[in-house]
This record gives sequence, structure tokens and C-alpha cells, in this order.
Amino acid sequence: MSLVFDSHSPAQTRRLGRRLAPLLQAGDVVLLQGELGAGKTSFSQGIGDGLKVAEAVKSSSFVLVNEYSGRLRVYHADLFRLEDPEQVFELALEENAQDGLLLVEWPDHAMAELPPRHLLLLFEITGPRSRRLTFEPNGDRYEQLLAAFKPKAGGDG
Ligand SMILES: Nc1ncnc2c1ncn2[C@@H]1O[C@H](COP(=O)(O)OP(=O)(O)OP(=O)(O)O)[C@@H](O)[C@H]1O
Ligand SMILES: [Mg+2]
Repeated sequence: MSLVFDSHSPAQTRRLGRRLAPLLQAGDVVLLQGELGAGKTSFSQGIGDGLKVAEAVKSSSFVLVNEYSGRLRVYHADLFRLEDPEQVFELALEENAQDGLLLVEWPDHAMAELPPRHLLLLFEITGPRSRRLTFEPNGDRYEQLLAAFKPKAGGDG
């Protein structure tokens, strides 16, 4: 079962992330896929906010993974600049992020090296201020997560 949301502003995309945050637990993996400017980082910032992370989640040019701490530890990886999927293998993301939440932007740059069980979020640009978010669960844990998120996420998202 996948879920689709239409966001009409950056704030609404962040709010969706914020609403997902309370349902997340250590060991969870969320992959955020979509073209440049589709809203992956905005959504990640909403999650950070919802987890009471003090700084804003963002990507840096030379570091593939940034760590934050809030209600959970957060490992935010941005694979946009990844040159070789082997690098992701070396990062051992799944193993190193076990004690927290793993968020990955541009997972399509190394899908084979990422955990097969994850929540996949697809971001599509549908207009200057509109984005379509499709949530696809891969694994029981994420089916349950989405079932819990669905009623909470109602209204204007
Ligand atoms: N509904 C919307 N949701 C999210 N962002 C939006 C929306 N409408 C417009 N935007 C704009 O799109 C951009 C989204 O940027 P963001 O950094 O979140 O994207 P991204 O997918 O992480 O991009 P990148 O691939 O470069 O990392 C921002 O400039 C934001 O203001
Ligand atoms: Mg980004």
C-alpha cells in the first residue's frame, strides 16, 4: 500500500516530515528520491524538527553523511556527489546507523548498497510550488509505519 500527498508549499512539505517524526524509531531507514529541488532536504528538515534536532538538517559538499542528535540520532546521507557506489559500501551505513534514523537523499546513486527494507519517498515536481510525495513501504515495519501515519497525516498534510 503506498500513500500519495500533494504539497503546495515548502512549509507543507516540512510539516509532513514533522508529522512523520514521532512514528520513527532507531533502526529505521528512509530513502528520499527525486530530482534537484524536489523537496528532499525540506522534508528531512521537517523530520529533524519533529525529532527536536537543534540545527537544521542540510547537506555539505564534502561529507557524505552528517550526524545530528535529537529524540533519536539522525544520520543524513546525501549521495548526490557520490562517484562510486563502492564508497557507500565502505560507509557501512546500515551498520553504523543502527542506533538511530538513517535518511538518504539520492539513494538511486547506490540502491544496491542500501538496506532492502526501507521507506521510500518519491518526490515529483508538479508545479512551481507543488510537489507530489509518494510513500512506498518496503517491509512489514514500514507497512505498519504508513498505516499509523495515514490517519495522522490527513487534512492539508
Ligand atoms: N511544495 C514544495 N515543497 C518543497 N519545496 C518546495 C515546494 N515548492 C517549492 N519548493 C522549493 O523547492 C526547493 C526544494 O529544495 P530542497 O533542498 O528541499 O530540495 P532537494 O530535493 O533536497 O534538492 P537537492 O537534490 O538539490 O538536494 C526549495 O527552494 C523550496 O523553496
Ligand atoms: Mg537536498
